Parts: sequence; structure tokens; C-alpha cells
Amino acid sequence: MRIKYNFYNMMSDSVGEENGVTEEEINSLSDRCKEIDSNLKIMRKKGEIRFFNLPYQEEVVKNIKDYADYVSSRFENFIVLGIGGSSLGGIALHKALNHTYYNILSDSRRKYPKIFFLDNIDPDTHSALFDIIDFKSSCFNFISKSGSTAETNAQFLIFIEKLKEVSGNDYKDHIVFTTDRSQGNFRKIADDEGIKSFIIPEGVGGRFSVLTPVGLLPAAVVGIDVEKLLEGAALMDKMCDNPTVQENPAYLNAVLHYIMDTKRGKNISVMMAYSDALFGIADWYRQLWAESLGKKYSLDGEIVHTGQTPVKALGVTDQHSQVQLYNEGPNDKVITLLGTEKFNSEIKIGTYSPEIEGLSYLSGHSLNELFYAEQTATEIALTKNNRPNCSITLPEINELTLGQIFFMLEVQTAFSGYLYNINPFDQPGVEEGKQFAYGLLGRKGFEDKKTEIENLLSLKKRE
Ligand code: PA5
Repeated sequence: MRIKYNFYNMMSDSVGEENGVTEEEINSLSDRCKEIDSNLKIMRKKGEIRFFNLPYQEEVVKNIKDYADYVSSRFENFIVLGIGGSSLGGIALHKALNHTYYNILSDSRRKYPKIFFLDNIDPDTHSALFDIIDFKSSCFNFISKSGSTAETNAQFLIFIEKLKEVSGNDYKDHIVFTTDRSQGNFRKIADDEGIKSFIIPEGVGGRFSVLTPVGLLPAAVVGIDVEKLLEGAALMDKMCDNPTVQENPAYLNAVLHYIMDTKRGKNISVMMAYSDALFGIADWYRQLWAESLGKKYSLDGEIVHTGQTPVKALGVTDQHSQVQLYNEGPNDKVITLLGTEKFNSEIKIGTYSPEIEGLSYLSGHSLNELFYAEQTATEIALTKNNRPNCSITLPEINELTLGQIFFMLEVQTAFSGYLYNINPFDQPGVEEGKQFAYGLLGRKGFEDKKTEIENLLSLKKRE
């Protein structure tokens, strides 16, 4: 069961030379692509790019499944605390594979603990969670690769205090860390106190970590088949082994987006999910594409300011919000339609009597037919308006197809980074904001940042 990638509407034959890519342009990059392919393979072999190894981790999966069984047997709630790459993958998996109203299903229909993702530090959201969960029957998964992210550290300090209040010495059994093997606050606490922890492998950054315990543990806790996910990723790994761009979906999509951005002025990459279940993937992709490719410096130290701006959209809802702009506004976007050939349910549209002509054309059809008609209509309209678009279609939404899409987009992003000649695995632009925040909160060692931001703030007040 393979996912399908259709790029025809990215090509000049479909949307014209001004907006589409030609075969010659793809071919002109083929030497460069072969070089990137071979460098990626060398870095993979040397262990310098580790996300490539994630489809193959039997031992880790076994430990995750054992722990997930324990959580299921003991707790009613599983609370995931992490931000950015430490949460978006888990959210995407849960949204894609579980019942839309999972947490409020009756106990007989929901076989696993309720799950809550607190990926923001909005006080009201925390307070709302305190209103509905019983700490005694809850397990808390603190996820942070660095172990030093202020948001997740603050959450830990809040929850640990409450947990100690209600559970006394038992509090350790309610906590599981997912963090670095040897560094950071969470590793220290886990080791010092003997608290359960899972390891985020070295060399795998947050946004590439969905197939580590970061995404796999929350998934396993709510009954997702994590082995099948990895099987899907391994399948895509094989499909992406081909050095020929035209025969490698991840490389081809990278090259097309790269040409669109650098030669056609399409500096926005919209991922429009045609399925509520797939909307989390668009959110996950938004981080992956933005943090990986939005860079000031090239690998040679030149100022380059690369990166397309990723935008997420939802079909069909956003046909009534965004598609006007996509069809008639600036032609500066590449639109990926992410859909499925099969929904889990089929809903028939009813009839009404007395018959009203403007309504009755719908009767006899299904919501599914209406949905697909609208998706097709959007694709055709975009193409007719010479708006480049491609589609990634899942035969159905399951673990095997999701493993493929995650892996494909990760390979595509890594490959794109080297097309742009930037490092797709760092995020120096996030650091300064973090340091200003540390300064404002009086963290030791960040006194200079405190002074700098206070000066900047007072300048702002004078304006
Ligand atoms: O992709 C990334 O590296 C980031 O988005 C991180 O996941 C995010 O900043 C959270 O970092 P950490 O996992 O160290 O708490």
C-alpha cells in the first residue's frame, strides 16, 4: 500500500512555462543531485544524519510497547508535555489515526488512556486541564531533547509540585521523560531519581524525531501500531534510495519546490490537507519546512536568507477562506494537496420533501462524493489559473501510509537543505529569542541579554 505522488501540475506542460518547471531544468540539476545523494549516503553511513536509521529500531519499539502496556493498565490519562518538534509529530499521529472525539468516547469504545497534548504554556489551558484530570490516575510524559527548554521545564516544575502533593512518594511512577541520553535537566533528574525515561537518539533533532520515542511513545499509549509505522517508513526509505531524481519522490519534490522558489518566485509552500485527520501532518510539515530551510547563512558562510514560507490549510473548509487568494492573488505559492483515497466512513446525503431543485441534486450522493468533487474542482481550478500544485495521496490513512509520508517529507527536507546549500538540521534563529527570555526571567549567565532586551524595550516605549 504505497502513497502516491503526482507532480504533473508543477510542470510547464500543465501550468505554462512562466509558472511551471521544465524537464530540462530538472535535468540541469542532476549532477548536483547525484552529489547531494552521495553525500547524504556518506553522512548516513558515518552516523552524521541519524533520522535515516529510525525505521530500524526493534529493541526501542519493544521497550515502548511494554511501557505503553503498563500505562494503559494503570492510568486513565496520559499527558504529553513538550513543544515544537517534541509535540507536533505525536499530535499528528494521534489526530490521523484515532477517533476524532477519542477522549470523550465511552470507556467501552476507548480501550486506551485519554491523551492530552500541552504544547503551549497558556496558563488558561493548564488551568482547564487541572479542572478535568485527576493527578492520581494520570501519567505525565515530559519530552525535551535539550532538557533545557524553558516552556517544558516550567511545566515540569508545575506538575511535579502538584504530583508530590497528591501522590506523595509515588510521584515518580507518574512520570516518564523522553530526552537526550546524557545531557540536560531531564536526563539529570531521571538518572538521579531513578525515573523512567526514553532516549531521543543523538543527532536526531526535534522536527525529525516523530519516529523516535518522542512520537512513538504517545502513539503506542493510545493503541497505534508503531511497528507498522516504522514498516511504512522503511518502505519509503527504499523508495528514496534511488539517486535518480525522477525516480525518487522525495528528491523530485525537493527539486521542484527548489526551482519554484528560486526560479519562479513561489516562495510560499501551502500544504492543504484534504481530510481532517491529515491536518496535523500539515502542521508538522509547517515546522519541518520552516525551521529546516529558513536560514540566514549558507554552508559557506554567505548571507543567503533561504526558505519558503510554509502555510497549512484544510480542505474543504479553507475553500471558503483561502482558495480565492490561491486562485487569484499573487502567483507566489506551490500548493500540495494532501489527501486520501478512502475515508473510514461513508455518509449518505438524505432527501427532503417537497423537493427543492437547488437541494435535490445533492440527494443520492454521499458526503464522500461531495468532498472528492470539491477536492477535484479545487485542483482543476488551480491548474486552470496556472497555479502550480502537486498531490500526495494516501490509499488510506493508516500506520503504513503515515510512516511513508513522514519519512518522505523528512528526506525531502534534508535533501532541500543541501540544494539550498544550508544546514537543514540547526535552528540558530530560535536561539536569540530563547536567550532574551532567559535574561528577562533572571537566569544566571544571561545578564547581558537582560540588559540588551531592557534597553531595546525602553527604546520601543519612547517611540
Ligand atoms: O525541531 C526542533 O529542534 C525544535 O522545534 C525543538 O523540538 C523545540 O524547540 C523543543 O526543543 P526541546 O525538544 O529541546 O525541548
